[in-house]
Amino acid sequence: MESVQAIKQRFGIIGNDSKLNRALEKAIQVSPTDISVLVTGESGVGKESVPKIIHQLSHRKHGKYIAVNCGAIPEGTIDSELFGHEKGAFTGATQTRSGYFEVADGGTIFLDEVGELPLTTQVRLLRVLENGEFIKVGSSKVQKTDVRIVAATNINMFEAIKKEKFREDLYYRLSTVEINLPALRERKDDIHLLFRKFASDFALKYKMPTVRLTEDAVSLLLKYRWNGNIRQLRNVAEQISVLEQNRTINGTALQQYLPNAGSSLPAVINTTKSESDFSSEREILYKVLFDMKSDLNDLKKLTMELMKKGSVSDVQKEHEHLIQKIYGEEEQEDIKTETVVEDLEVLSIPEHTETTENSVEVEDKYHFAEEIEEEETLSLHDKELELIKKSLERHHGKRKLAAAELGISERTLYRKIKQYDL
Ligand SMILES: Nc1ncnc2c1ncn2[C@@H]1O[C@H](COP(=O)(O)OP(=O)(O)OP(=O)(O)O)[C@@H](O)[C@H]1O
Ligand SMILES: [Mg+2]
Repeated sequence: MESVQAIKQRFGIIGNDSKLNRALEKAIQVSPTDISVLVTGESGVGKESVPKIIHQLSHRKHGKYIAVNCGAIPEGTIDSELFGHEKGAFTGATQTRSGYFEVADGGTIFLDEVGELPLTTQVRLLRVLENGEFIKVGSSKVQKTDVRIVAATNINMFEAIKKEKFREDLYYRLSTVEINLPALRERKDDIHLLFRKFASDFALKYKMPTVRLTEDAVSLLLKYRWNGNIRQLRNVAEQISVLEQNRTINGTALQQYLPNAGSSLPAVINTTKSESDFSSEREILYKVLFDMKSDLNDLKKLTMELMKKGSVSDVQKEHEHLIQKIYGEEEQEDIKTETVVEDLEVLSIPEHTETTENSVEVEDKYHFAEEIEEEETLSLHDKELELIKKSLERHHGKRKLAAAELGISERTLYRKIKQYDL
């Protein structure tokens, strides 16, 4: 059996993290069998190497290896792509065609983005997994195939099952063995190593001296969230290698290439979907809006208290925590020095309008949250939709070019097109 180190070398996998090593060990162990494997992990963690390793180390290595991106094939044609079709099965089916499961007989099929498979295709897939049987679209003849399946996903499959988008029986059948690849932020020791490797590769490619990072740049590199994982790190290394004149990169220079690094915006943690696409920007905006809403509610509460009690120092004592929350420590100091001077005269409110603390808060929160959420969702959606439309127009409907312009993956663009019914 080949060692983990040898496999890393053979497949160009960089890193020494124990979770990565464990995942590779699992791949090596499972490869001689025909067991179905599900590779999980965030986007860009390197899932695509695992099925290649499994195939190459298996007795199927001389057979076909077919990688299918389930998320990129339109729903209407996926059954025919996977299982083939008979002549005349649908308009345009002028000839009988073999699907991947027939072609890969004796080999391995990698089903990438398996969570995107339509439910009807999932039924067909379950049958192949259970007894190797499938039927071409438009045929009634049962055919046999001997294919090993490795699938991958970056979505939370339990969520998909809960939402009835993925069959539970198929999930268990696919994930006899699950191999999870760690996110880059969980492999701190590998981050700089990977950067150095990419920087040196790009220096060779572009025939320029290798870029190096100063200490503060390295510490920024380690602190950053890397939502796009190794794919994002590789892109950053490439951009810096090409664009930076000065080959020594400090923290400030590096920061330009890291979206949201050093920004005061709160980091939004998203475990299920981590591409740097429009949705994460939208989530950050939501978070900021909700924080603002919460501050406003706290301010309303303080104002109400001031109006009721009429004494600034009383309110200050009673709501020290709240004041600190809204103004932070520095500003709180300012407030103290200004207001301690004397208890200012404040408005008093008539008896009959007095409300309890709770009811004021609950009522306000509700109206405000609803309004903001709806308005913002609408305008952000419109904006996104408009951007996508314009980009598609500019590129005469060519998704690849539009996706590149928008800075999102082709798959994400495809999903958006479906979502907006473009
Ligand atoms: N350990 C590694 N060493 C070197 N390069 C790596 C490593 N892991 C990933 N990469 C590179 O990072 C990029 C992204 O990897 P890959 O395409 O396998 O991601 P993925 O997990 O399939 O993501 P997605 O879910 O978005 O499809 C590729 O260019 C790959 O070669
Ligand atoms: Mg992939």
